[in-house]
Amino acid sequence: MEKYIIKGGKKLSGTACVTSAKNAYLPILAGSLLNDNKILLKKCPKYADVLKMCDIVENLGGKTLLEGNELEIDCSNLNSYIIPHDLASVIRSSIFSLGSILGRFKKAKVAYPGGCEIGARPIDLHLKGLKALNVKIVDKHGYISCDGRNMKGGVVNLDFPSVGATENIMLAAVLTKGETKIINCAKEPEIVDLANFLNMQGAKIYGAGTSVIRIEGVKKLTNSIEYEPIPDRIIAGTLLLSGLMTGGEIQIKRFKQEHNMALLEKVKNSSCTICIKDDILHLKVEGRQKAISKIETMPFPGFPTDLQAQMVACQAVSKGTSIIVENLFETRFKHVPELVKMGAKITVSGRTAVVRGVEKLYGAEVNAQDLRGGAALVMAGLVAEGYTTVNNANHIDRGYYKLENLFGNLGAEIERI
Ligand code: EPZ
Repeated sequence: MEKYIIKGGKKLSGTACVTSAKNAYLPILAGSLLNDNKILLKKCPKYADVLKMCDIVENLGGKTLLEGNELEIDCSNLNSYIIPHDLASVIRSSIFSLGSILGRFKKAKVAYPGGCEIGARPIDLHLKGLKALNVKIVDKHGYISCDGRNMKGGVVNLDFPSVGATENIMLAAVLTKGETKIINCAKEPEIVDLANFLNMQGAKIYGAGTSVIRIEGVKKLTNSIEYEPIPDRIIAGTLLLSGLMTGGEIQIKRFKQEHNMALLEKVKNSSCTICIKDDILHLKVEGRQKAISKIETMPFPGFPTDLQAQMVACQAVSKGTSIIVENLFETRFKHVPELVKMGAKITVSGRTAVVRGVEKLYGAEVNAQDLRGGAALVMAGLVAEGYTTVNNANHIDRGYYKLENLFGNLGAEIERI
């Protein structure tokens, strides 16, 4: 297992450019299965999960060709409607393909998904939504088998604005006769990006970004397109919080202000100046941060759960006490015991972490348990006294490409071995 070694204490300075959004690229790759015309995706990020999703597309008979940072996808000769356990179980986004495969073949057999172990992560809302489109589902032996021969548009009321369920139902509805409505759907920027991507190909999706999405089924997607998915707002937020922790002065390119309003609201009283122009955020930090008293993760446009771990790391070295509540996932504080090994003063009770900021963290050997928690440990290493080893770098690779370069290019002393 590869690991990061970080020598803490360096202020960050310089310019970083945010790569494309993992959580846009993954559903868009699933969406590419719907079209038998060629698609070219720009600024393809080489995150591990994106490469695994390409394996899924290829296993279904699609072709993917990554040249530089452009990814060409050709799904004209799909020859399977099955995603086996060994491919489905390594990423969460395999489940999004259920909707696309159904849209294309009117049948599907997909093994249960995997993904970061941050909670139970059920798929009941996905299945409820597909049943509302008259899909017959058999869920046994770890596989979801779907019969979509009689699919028709329907109304789906989501008990929770699930990102994946919204995307899955949207993908299933695009080529399904009739009108589909998804009520109480997710409003994340990645949902809007997926809808834009599909509409460019001839889909008829309305209302993405609001809490009701309407889809008019079409017979086929007819256009071959080139598309550039949105930048990764979580990487952008990770960089901003890292700068706040280490001090210094950085620029973050491809920082979409409208995608990170909740984070910007939380840090607006920090000891720093932030100015954003033409999607470039300029951060100049003045001294140690005051604690942010309360942070609660919520569905978009609330504070993102995917920045919770990074915010815990940032508050761990702030002045004062911060209360951080994780409302979306039931076990998403696995980074806390690791931060405590570094001298952080954090107690967790249920979904609430109480973070008492300390002046100094100390380098230690710690273990990444999931993607965003792993990134938080690297951030803590950037400010800790001495050397920090972060094991299980593979977790971090799921959503950050060469994190050692991202921070190294900003002056951090970090290597990967
Ligand atoms: C997506 O996961 C993201 N992953 C996650 O990012 C992100 O944390 C999450 O949305 C929330 O924003 C991808 O897009 C690949 P959900 P997803 O369905 O779709 C419950 C990262 O680090 N739920 O919105 O799995 C669920 O248990 C990853 O990049 C059901 O109860 O998230 C959770 O409590 C981690 N039944 C809540 O909804 C269902 O059928 C939110 O889950 C589905 C979800």
